[in-house]
Amino acid sequence: MNLWVRILRAEPAMGDALGREGVEARRALSRRALALAAEAMGARLGPERHGEHGQPLPDGDWHSSRSHARSCAAAACAPFALGVDVEEVLPRRDELVPRMCSRDELDLLGGFTWERAFRIWTAKEAVLKKAGVGLLELSACRLTAVDGDRQAWIHHRGRHHKVEQLSRDGHWVAIAHDGPEETEVKWRWSAA
Ligand SMILES: CC(C)(COP(=O)(O)OP(=O)(O)OC[C@H]1O[C@@H](n2cnc3c(N)ncnc32)[C@H](O)[C@@H]1OP(=O)(O)O)[C@@H](O)C(=O)NCCC(=O)NCCS
Repeated sequence: MNLWVRILRAEPAMGDALGREGVEARRALSRRALALAAEAMGARLGPERHGEHGQPLPDGDWHSSRSHARSCAAAACAPFALGVDVEEVLPRRDELVPRMCSRDELDLLGGFTWERAFRIWTAKEAVLKKAGVGLLELSACRLTAVDGDRQAWIHHRGRHHKVEQLSRDGHWVAIAHDGPEETEVKWRWSAA
C-alpha cells in the first residue's frame, strides 16, 4: 500500500501572520492537506474528534494526523495508527537544544547542527503523535539509529519505531506508522 503524505507550502503572507489569526490559518492549511491525503487514500473522513490529550480519534477504520509549521502544513491518513510532524529548521535559543535531543542522539548524526536537532525532534514528535500522547512522553523517547537522511528509529514504550523523513525547503517532515512492513511512504509537496 502507498501511504501519501501531503505537504502544502503556504503563501508568504500566511507565514507572517501573527497571533490567533496566524494559528487559525495554519490549522486550516493542515486541514486542507488532510483532505488531499484522504482523497489520495480513498478515505472519507467526517468531522475531527479529539481524545483527552488532544489526539485526533480514528474515524471508523481511518486514523489521521496533521501538523502545521509557520509556512507549511503536512498530513496523512491510513487504516492504522500514524503520526506526522513538520518543523521549519530555525535556530532557536541554545537552552532549547537539550530539550529537543541529547548529545548521544546528536552524535549518531555527526554532532550538533540545528538541522540535525530538528531532524531528531520531528522524528520523536511523529512517534509521540502516533501514540496519541504528544510531548507528555518526550523524555521517554530516544533516537537509536538512522539510515541516510530518510529513515530513523525511535525507542518508545519498549519498541523501536521506524520513522520516515523528508528534508526540503528548510523543513523536516516525519511520519511514523503501524502499517505493514511493505507500506510505501509517498511524499507530495505542493504550493497551497
Ligand atoms: C501534540 C503536540 C506534540 C503537537 O505539537 P506541535 O508541534 O505544537 O503541533 P503540530 O502542528 O505538529 O500538531 C498539531 C496537531 O496535532 C494533533 N494533536 C494534538 N494533540 C495530539 C496528541 N496528543 N497526539 C497526537 N496528535 C495530537 C492535533 O490534530 C493538532 O492540530 P490542531 O492544533 O489544529 O488541533 C503537542 O501539542 C502536545 O504534546 N500535546 C499533548 C500535551 C497535552 O496533553 N496537553 C494538554 C492539552 S489537552
